[in-house]
Amino acid sequence: MKEIYFAGGCFWGVQHFFSGVEGVSETLCGYANGNIESPSYEQVYTDTTGFAETVKVTYNPERISLEALTDLFFCIIDPLSLNKQGHDEGTRYRTGVYYTDAAESSVLEAVFAREAARAGAPLAVELEPLRNFYRAEERHQDYLVANPGGYCHLPLKTFVYLKAWQDIRNLLGDEPDSVARMAEIVSLLQERLRFFWVGFYRVLGGDRGEELVLGPFAGPAACIRIGYGRGVCGTAWKEGRTIVVPDVEEFPGHIACSALSKSEIVVPVIKEGCVTAVLDIDSKDISYFDEVDSLWLQKIAAFS
Ligand code: SME
Repeated sequence: MKEIYFAGGCFWGVQHFFSGVEGVSETLCGYANGNIESPSYEQVYTDTTGFAETVKVTYNPERISLEALTDLFFCIIDPLSLNKQGHDEGTRYRTGVYYTDAAESSVLEAVFAREAARAGAPLAVELEPLRNFYRAEERHQDYLVANPGGYCHLPLKTFVYLKAWQDIRNLLGDEPDSVARMAEIVSLLQERLRFFWVGFYRVLGGDRGEELVLGPFAGPAACIRIGYGRGVCGTAWKEGRTIVVPDVEEFPGHIACSALSKSEIVVPVIKEGCVTAVLDIDSKDISYFDEVDSLWLQKIAAFS
């Protein structure tokens, strides 16, 4: 077993998240890298002790790598926000990764470099050796298990997406057929997240050149072919980026397959630099999709 320490804002939500990660055997809420011995929550709360609310994550490196764990950590923080995550503010809510094995710093530095490149700005996340760690009071351990519906700075769908992502990965294994993979992804997303419409369009060649052609989907009947640069799907294909449309009526050229669809997200599937398909999801509600959907759906679409 190995251990790594993640400070990601309020430790209740961070612990709940990592306790759901396969390969993690134990999680513990505590206070890390501060200046006094055995601090109480009340002392840490004053924001004068230097401690960060931190979760010790014990994991089996044969089941999950440090890199994969740190990738997941970056899924639940705003890495550009200094001393503030969600509504929680103060140095005790700063973000950081603290390690006990110096040999691991290069793996972590590589993840940090990739995240900084993606964010396009310097990260506000510490990367340091662990100096000290004190276990938090019992009432803070597994708080969200003891208090379902209790305060959590992470949106609840984060936990649904984590489970869906892991289940899809396990379900697909090394199945080589991409249509079969897409069909399973659609089914599982539909089961867990109850979208109005969810499906893939594949980039296929034919007499008319390359087009997006309808693939596995769940929901009402939809248009079968979409041209390059047409609609939201064709735009996501052309631009090679995820497009979140809060109000479909505001998107020029939007293709309305159903009058009931009000907002939409389209995630391109990119293989070796080329868009090979898009994952399209529609909602009957305005402004249904946000950054959290975008992040997890990109991870999930990559399995197709
Ligand atoms: N609205 C999409 C077309 C596909 S349906 O939403 C299923 C678009 O504008 O590309």
